[in-house]
Amino acid sequence: MKYRTLGRTGLSVSEIGFGAWAIGGTSYGPTRDEDSLDALEAAWEHGVNFFDTADTYGHGHSEELIGRFLKGKRDQAVIATKAGWDFYHGGSRQNFDPDYIRFACGESLRRLATDRIDLYQLHNPRLEILEQGGLFQVLEELKREGKVRYYGVSVHTPAEALAVIRSGKADTLQLIFNLIDQRPVLEVFPEAVEKNIGIIAREPLACGFLTGKYSGVSAFPKTDHRNGWSREKKELDLQKLSRLRASLKTERVSPVEEALEFVLSFEAVSAAIPGAKTRLQVLQNLKASEDPKLRIEEISVLRRVYESDEIFKTGFYRN
Ligand SMILES: NC(=O)c1ccc[n+]([C@@H]2O[C@H](COP(=O)([O-])OP(=O)(O)OC[C@H]3O[C@@H](n4cnc5c(N)ncnc54)[C@H](OP(=O)(O)O)[C@@H]3O)[C@@H](O)[C@H]2O)c1
Repeated sequence: MKYRTLGRTGLSVSEIGFGAWAIGGTSYGPTRDEDSLDALEAAWEHGVNFFDTADTYGHGHSEELIGRFLKGKRDQAVIATKAGWDFYHGGSRQNFDPDYIRFACGESLRRLATDRIDLYQLHNPRLEILEQGGLFQVLEELKREGKVRYYGVSVHTPAEALAVIRSGKADTLQLIFNLIDQRPVLEVFPEAVEKNIGIIAREPLACGFLTGKYSGVSAFPKTDHRNGWSREKKELDLQKLSRLRASLKTERVSPVEEALEFVLSFEAVSAAIPGAKTRLQVLQNLKASEDPKLRIEEISVLRRVYESDEIFKTGFYRN
């Protein structure tokens, strides 16, 4: 495993982190805790020290599993979690009120069985909310109190990413970055690098789609957020993928490795955080760091096709 510095936090994180949305058990179909703990163990054995979760994943279950897993290992791990989706008061709604964030932080600390969160991220505040300002004051207070070491924001769009960078406050940005959504390369990375903001690339496998195992007619369980994908969306993504594959035949590299190596080929990225439900998925994902095979010319082709083909200008996913 190779490690990178998470922007101006100075934290050293494994370039492949552990995305812990799926192990919450309620958004990527049902999961078994023994599989999830085994996946975490596999990641740890191979040097993964960076764990990204959120309070809302499985309504606390993902955080609880990570807290349980990291018992006795806490000091060697970097835990990132998120707040802003209030699921405590019936339903689920966005809430960035300072009192709520303070309450949510306490709940996350308890579930993670720790006295400090290494990276506390606001979970998808929309552009209007980011532009109102004032969001970060409570995070500054939590930092002063030692409950949070650093804070960042997870966003959907390049415009939101730029608003975060220009706030001058957040140390990190979590954003969607993968083969079929390369917008950050030109729209976000230059400014993020200039300000030394740590970039965490989420959905690097486009929620599993880039593994090549899904098609336009794939069906997902009711408890899987992909159940909401329309047939048009799946077919458009397939077309995008086939345009990339038509230009680049990389038999030496599996689709999973190609997707993750592409993301890691950008120095602006501190870590890619593929989600994994099993040991096998973790081991496949780690190869992108342990034994990278994509050549610079191949990465250039993937960039050129993306920038030159109009199909990549539409159908972005907000998750
Ligand atoms: N708004 C936000 O802040 C936000 C939103 C999304 C994600 N995130 C974070 O980013 C992380 C990564 O995103 P993600 O988990 O949504 O998407 P992802 O990493 O693109 O895809 C993860 C899914 O792909 C499948 N998969 C993973 N490795 C595989 C392998 N080697 N072979 C075949 N299938 C594989 C698994 O689902 P199946 O096996 O069921 O296909 C897994 O749940 C999340 O876990 C979370 O920590 C944050």
